[in-house]
Formats: sequence, structure tokens, C-alpha cells
Amino acid sequence: MPKFNDIDEKLWRDYSDVETGSLWLIDKRDNSGVHVGDYHGNFVPQIPHQLFTRYTKKNDWILDPFMGSGTSLIEAQRMKRNAVGIELQQKVLEETMQRISLEENSESKIISICGDSGTVDIKSVMNSAGIKNFQFVIFHPPYWDIIKFSDNPQDLSNCTNLEDFKNSFGKIIDNTTRFLEKNRYCACVIGDKYSDSRVIPLGFYCMELFMEKNFLLKAVIVKNFGETKGKNNHQNLWRYRALKNDFYIFKHEYIFVFKKNF
Ligand SMILES: C[S@@+](CC[C@H](N)C(=O)[O-])C[C@H]1O[C@@H](n2cnc3c(N)ncnc32)[C@H](O)[C@@H]1O
Repeated sequence: MPKFNDIDEKLWRDYSDVETGSLWLIDKRDNSGVHVGDYHGNFVPQIPHQLFTRYTKKNDWILDPFMGSGTSLIEAQRMKRNAVGIELQQKVLEETMQRISLEENSESKIISICGDSGTVDIKSVMNSAGIKNFQFVIFHPPYWDIIKFSDNPQDLSNCTNLEDFKNSFGKIIDNTTRFLEKNRYCACVIGDKYSDSRVIPLGFYCMELFMEKNFLLKAVIVKNFGETKGKNNHQNLWRYRALKNDFYIFKHEYIFVFKKNF
């Protein structure tokens, strides 16, 4: 199998910090450097760090179609990978690129595109930057409408129903993974939601979406999450509600890893 990371298996004992199990219990967010962690709906830097360690090599190109505060771009830059991030909101993109530039390292190229990841012209950016294809795509879409990111109708958090969410996300998968190199990987970080008194297993719907598009499912990882900004300081209230009613409080999200073998 051709190499898709820089791990030297002969030194396998030295990689005790690299996850190999399907349960990731991360107790503290890495808030070092420009990872400020104040963007509502961001993920912890350890997620892209672990994935880039396992699935990318130095100088590879990584694509993040939901760049937000740029957590994966910052990690890519620190790990001497190159990255392209796409973000719908111009203001978010500008603030993110400004922060990333504070940690600039001359070995990495970090590029941003403002637009809808489902329709934006990625090829022309690739052409002008001399990018042949991407070696990893990391998806961290809105968990449908749990957090409303903007008023833009193209924003996945404004999808009107589940079918609309799946169709719109499907277009984003198509528009981005066509530039993913054959035999390389992509990952989707997503949680479930609760509405109308039942669980909507968004994670599994998204997993199916990739499988319907012929991606090979390589991993289903469950990652804990602690206090979300939305539930901040309301633990007791949520515990009371759960005990009184018939639901469990979400404490996990999924990381699905897929291989593109076509
Ligand atoms: C869950 S957040 C990603 C957060 C990011 N991983 C971080 O750590 O900051 C999703 C982001 O996708 C953006 N977004 C939503 N729909 C989009 C679309 N159609 N195209 C591009 N970006 C979109 C939102 O504005 C939001 O910033």
C-alpha cells in the first residue's frame, strides 16, 4: 500500500500520542497559540491533528470546505501541510486568515476561498496555486440547524428539512471530493440532533451519504464532548429535564473516515 502518512512503523512505540482506537476521550481543548476557541461551533484542534497525523504527509494539500475559525488550517500550517479553506461568511473568513497569519510558517501555503462549497469554483484556485489535487478533505458541516451560522440561504444551517440538508451537503461532497486524489482519505465530523421529541441521527445520515457515493467506510469514531457553549452552566437544568423526561443528553459526536478508491 503506498504511503499516505509520515508514520515510521518501525518506531511504532514512539507514537503513544496517536489515536488508534475508535473512542476518543479528549478532556481539554488545545488553546495554544492562535487557537482561541471562541468561535461558536468550532471543533477541538486535536481532531484535525490526529486525522492529519494518520492520513497526510508533510507538503500534502488539505481541503476544508467548512473553514469557520480555521482550526484545521492552523493545524495544517503547524504540521507543515498546505491547506485551502472555504467559508461562506466573508467576515469570518477575514478574521480567520488574519489570525492564521500570526503563526505563519514559510513552509506552508494557506489559501482561503469565500463562497458556497457546493458551487464555488475550486478548480481555478487550484490552477492558479499549482495544486494538482488534494490528499485529504476534512468536513465539519453545521449540525443542520443546531447553531445558526448566518442568514445566507446557502448556509447548511438554514436548510428547511432533512432532505434539503442531505441534498445540499451531498452537493458539497461532490464539488470537493472530485479533487481528492485516488486512494486517499476524507473525514466528516458531525453530531446528532433532537427535535419533535425524537433523535435525528444526522451522523448516520451523513455516513450513508458518503457510502452511497461509493466511499469506503474506514472508521466510525466516537468522540466525547463536554460543555457546549449552548448548554454552558445549565448542566443541572438539562440533567433535571432528562430525568423528568425520556431522553439522554448528547455527550458525543462522530468522526467518520472514508477512503476514495475510485
Ligand atoms: C461547524 S462550523 C466549522 C467550524 C470549524 N471546524 C472550526 O473549528 O472553526 C461550519 C462552518 O461552515 C460554514 N458554512 C455553512 N454552510 C456553508 C456552505 N454552504 N459553504 C461554505 N461554508 C459554509 C459556516 O459559516 C460555519 O463557519
